[in-house]
Amino acid sequence: MTRKTSIAVLISGGGSNLQALMDTTQSQDFPGQINLVIANRPNAYGLIRAKQAGIPALCIDHTAYPDRATFEDALHAALRAAQIELICLAGFMRVLTADFVNKWKGRILNIHPSLLPHYRGIHAQQQALNDGAEMSGCTVHIVTPHLDDGPILGQRQVPILPDDDVDSLSARILQEEHRLYPEALRLFLEQKDAQTRK
Ligand code: GRF
Repeated sequence: MTRKTSIAVLISGGGSNLQALMDTTQSQDFPGQINLVIANRPNAYGLIRAKQAGIPALCIDHTAYPDRATFEDALHAALRAAQIELICLAGFMRVLTADFVNKWKGRILNIHPSLLPHYRGIHAQQQALNDGAEMSGCTVHIVTPHLDDGPILGQRQVPILPDDDVDSLSARILQEEHRLYPEALRLFLEQKDAQTRK
Protein backbone atom coordinates (compact mmCIF):
# COMPACT_ATOMS: atom_id res chain seq x y z
CA MET A 1 0.00 0.00 0.00
CA THR A 2 1.14 3.56 -0.68
CA ARG A 3 2.07 5.92 2.13
CA LYS A 4 -0.83 7.28 4.19
CA THR A 5 -1.69 10.95 3.71
CA SER A 6 -1.27 12.95 6.92
CA ILE A 7 -4.59 14.57 7.85
CA ALA A 8 -5.68 17.27 10.30
CA VAL A 9 -9.32 17.64 11.29
CA LEU A 10 -10.53 21.11 12.29
CA ILE A 11 -13.54 21.33 14.57
CA SER A 12 -15.53 23.79 16.65
CA GLY A 13 -17.95 21.63 18.61
CA GLY A 14 -19.21 18.14 19.30
CA GLY A 15 -17.02 16.40 16.77
CA SER A 16 -19.34 13.56 15.78
CA ASN A 17 -17.99 13.78 12.22
CA LEU A 18 -14.48 13.75 13.65
CA GLN A 19 -15.44 10.56 15.49
CA ALA A 20 -16.68 8.95 12.26
CA LEU A 21 -13.44 9.93 10.52
CA MET A 22 -11.26 8.66 13.40
CA ASP A 23 -13.14 5.35 13.48
CA THR A 24 -12.73 4.79 9.75
CA THR A 25 -9.16 5.96 9.33
CA GLN A 26 -8.02 3.51 11.99
CA SER A 27 -8.44 0.67 9.54
CA GLN A 28 -5.11 -0.49 8.15
CA ASP A 29 -6.09 -0.14 4.52
CA PHE A 30 -7.34 3.45 4.80
CA PRO A 31 -5.15 5.70 2.61
CA GLY A 32 -4.94 8.49 5.21
CA GLN A 33 -4.23 8.94 8.90
CA ILE A 34 -5.43 11.66 11.27
CA ASN A 35 -2.34 13.09 12.96
CA LEU A 36 -3.78 16.27 14.45
CA VAL A 37 -7.09 17.71 15.65
CA ILE A 38 -7.45 21.45 16.10
CA ALA A 39 -10.40 23.23 17.68
CA ASN A 40 -10.92 26.98 17.65
CA ARG A 41 -12.94 26.73 20.89
CA PRO A 42 -11.43 25.44 24.14
CA ASN A 43 -14.62 23.64 25.21
CA ALA A 44 -15.13 21.75 21.93
CA TYR A 45 -16.06 18.20 22.95
CA GLY A 46 -14.22 16.89 19.89
CA LEU A 47 -10.94 17.64 21.69
CA ILE A 48 -11.85 15.02 24.30
CA ARG A 49 -12.80 12.55 21.57
CA ALA A 50 -9.38 13.05 19.95
CA LYS A 51 -7.52 12.56 23.22
CA GLN A 52 -9.52 9.39 23.89
CA ALA A 53 -8.44 8.11 20.50
CA GLY A 54 -4.79 8.97 21.24
CA ILE A 55 -4.59 11.65 18.54
CA PRO A 56 -2.70 14.90 19.26
CA ALA A 57 -5.25 17.64 19.82
CA LEU A 58 -4.88 21.33 20.48
CA CYS A 59 -6.97 24.43 20.77
CA ILE A 60 -6.13 27.56 18.81
CA ASP A 61 -8.68 29.91 20.29
CA HIS A 62 -9.59 32.48 17.65
CA THR A 63 -10.66 34.97 20.34
CA ALA A 64 -7.03 35.20 21.48
CA TYR A 65 -5.97 36.74 18.15
CA PRO A 66 -6.55 40.32 17.02
CA ASP A 67 -7.75 39.36 13.53
CA ARG A 68 -8.36 36.52 11.10
CA ALA A 69 -4.90 36.76 9.54
CA THR A 70 -2.99 36.23 12.80
CA PHE A 71 -5.35 33.41 13.83
CA GLU A 72 -4.78 31.72 10.48
CA ASP A 73 -1.01 32.21 10.75
CA ALA A 74 -1.11 30.26 14.02
CA LEU A 75 -3.27 27.59 12.39
CA HIS A 76 -0.94 27.32 9.41
CA ALA A 77 2.14 27.08 11.64
CA ALA A 78 0.61 24.27 13.71
CA LEU A 79 -0.39 22.35 10.57
CA ARG A 80 3.07 22.73 9.05
CA ALA A 81 4.79 21.74 12.30
CA ALA A 82 2.77 18.50 12.32
CA GLN A 83 3.58 17.88 8.62
CA ILE A 84 -0.06 17.86 7.66
CA GLU A 85 -0.89 17.32 4.00
CA LEU A 86 -4.69 17.50 4.00
CA ILE A 87 -7.23 19.39 6.12
CA CYS A 88 -10.74 18.10 6.81
CA LEU A 89 -13.13 20.71 8.14
CA ALA A 90 -15.73 18.97 10.31
CA GLY A 91 -18.11 21.43 11.89
CA PHE A 92 -15.42 24.12 11.88
CA MET A 93 -17.38 27.34 12.28
CA ARG A 94 -14.83 29.90 11.09
CA VAL A 95 -14.74 31.21 7.56
CA LEU A 96 -11.23 30.80 6.15
CA THR A 97 -9.74 33.67 4.13
CA ALA A 98 -8.77 33.32 0.48
CA ASP A 99 -5.18 33.74 1.59
CA PHE A 100 -5.31 30.64 3.81
CA VAL A 101 -7.34 28.60 1.33
CA ASN A 102 -4.87 29.39 -1.45
CA LYS A 103 -1.95 28.23 0.70
CA TRP A 104 -3.75 24.87 0.96
CA LYS A 105 -5.23 24.90 -2.52
CA GLY A 106 -7.06 21.66 -3.31
CA ARG A 107 -6.07 20.25 0.09
CA ILE A 108 -9.02 21.31 2.26
CA LEU A 109 -12.26 19.31 2.37
CA ASN A 110 -15.49 20.35 4.06
CA ILE A 111 -18.82 18.75 4.95
CA HIS A 112 -21.97 20.84 4.71
CA PRO A 113 -25.48 19.85 5.85
CA SER A 114 -27.34 20.51 2.60
CA LEU A 115 -27.37 19.36 -0.98
CA LEU A 116 -25.08 22.04 -2.36
CA PRO A 117 -25.38 24.29 -4.27
CA HIS A 118 -28.62 24.73 -2.29
CA TYR A 119 -28.56 26.44 1.13
CA ARG A 120 -25.00 27.61 1.55
CA GLY A 121 -23.85 29.27 4.79
CA ILE A 122 -25.13 28.83 8.32
CA HIS A 123 -28.51 27.35 9.33
CA ALA A 124 -28.66 25.25 6.16
CA GLN A 125 -31.27 22.92 7.70
CA GLN A 126 -33.49 25.86 8.67
CA GLN A 127 -33.10 27.31 5.19
CA ALA A 128 -34.33 24.01 3.68
CA LEU A 129 -37.33 23.91 6.05
CA ASN A 130 -38.21 27.55 5.36
CA ASP A 131 -38.12 26.82 1.67
CA GLY A 132 -40.58 23.93 1.98
CA ALA A 133 -38.01 21.58 0.38
CA GLU A 134 -38.92 17.86 0.28
CA MET A 135 -35.34 16.59 0.24
CA SER A 136 -32.18 17.61 1.98
CA GLY A 137 -28.89 15.93 2.74
CA CYS A 138 -25.20 16.58 2.97
CA THR A 139 -22.27 17.34 0.70
CA VAL A 140 -18.52 16.85 0.91
CA HIS A 141 -16.60 19.25 -1.28
CA ILE A 142 -13.18 20.72 -1.87
CA VAL A 143 -12.88 24.15 -0.26
CA THR A 144 -12.30 27.19 -2.46
CA PRO A 145 -12.23 30.85 -1.38
CA HIS A 146 -15.99 31.00 -2.01
CA LEU A 147 -18.17 29.87 0.91
CA ASP A 148 -19.57 26.31 0.57
CA ASP A 149 -18.57 26.21 -3.06
CA GLY A 150 -15.95 24.12 -4.84
CA PRO A 151 -15.90 20.72 -6.55
CA ILE A 152 -18.34 18.25 -5.01
CA LEU A 153 -16.86 14.90 -3.97
CA GLY A 154 -20.06 13.25 -2.76
CA GLN A 155 -23.61 13.78 -1.55
CA ARG A 156 -26.26 11.84 0.36
CA GLN A 157 -29.93 12.65 0.39
CA VAL A 158 -32.48 12.45 3.19
CA PRO A 159 -36.21 13.15 3.03
CA ILE A 160 -37.72 16.10 4.87
CA LEU A 161 -40.75 14.78 6.76
CA PRO A 162 -43.91 16.81 7.40
CA ASP A 163 -43.30 17.03 11.19
CA ASP A 164 -39.61 17.90 10.94
CA ASP A 165 -38.06 20.72 12.92
CA VAL A 166 -34.42 21.81 12.80
CA ASP A 167 -33.39 19.27 15.42
CA SER A 168 -35.03 16.24 13.82
CA LEU A 169 -33.82 17.17 10.34
CA SER A 170 -30.29 17.94 11.56
CA ALA A 171 -30.12 14.56 13.32
CA ARG A 172 -31.25 12.71 10.17
CA ILE A 173 -28.69 14.58 8.05
CA LEU A 174 -25.93 14.04 10.62
CA GLN A 175 -26.38 10.25 10.42
CA GLU A 176 -25.69 10.46 6.70
CA GLU A 177 -22.77 12.84 7.22
CA HIS A 178 -21.09 10.13 9.30
CA ARG A 179 -21.32 7.73 6.35
CA LEU A 180 -20.53 10.23 3.62
CA TYR A 181 -17.43 11.94 4.98
CA PRO A 182 -15.26 8.82 5.41
CA GLU A 183 -16.41 7.49 2.01
CA ALA A 184 -15.70 10.75 0.20
CA LEU A 185 -12.34 11.13 1.95
CA ARG A 186 -11.32 7.61 0.89
CA LEU A 187 -12.32 8.26 -2.71
CA PHE A 188 -10.49 11.59 -2.76
CA LEU A 189 -7.28 10.02 -1.43
CA GLU A 190 -7.48 7.03 -3.76
CA GLN A 191 -7.91 9.29 -6.78
CA LYS A 192 -4.98 11.41 -5.63
CA ASP A 193 -2.83 8.28 -5.26
CA ALA A 194 -3.83 7.08 -8.72
CA GLN A 195 -2.92 10.47 -10.21
CA THR A 196 0.50 10.59 -8.60
CA ARG A 197 1.22 7.06 -9.90
CA LYS A 198 0.45 8.08 -13.52
C1 GRF B 1 -22.44 19.12 10.99
O1 GRF B 1 -23.81 19.14 10.66
C2 GRF B 1 -21.64 19.77 9.90
O2 GRF B 1 -22.10 19.50 8.61
C3 GRF B 1 -21.87 21.22 10.23
O3 GRF B 1 -21.78 21.28 11.64
C4 GRF B 1 -22.16 20.02 12.18
C5 GRF B 1 -21.01 19.53 13.02
O4 GRF B 1 -21.35 18.43 13.79
N1 GRF B 1 -21.00 22.09 9.51
P1 GRF B 1 -20.22 17.62 14.58
O5 GRF B 1 -19.40 18.63 15.37
O6 GRF B 1 -19.39 16.87 13.58
O7 GRF B 1 -20.98 16.69 15.48
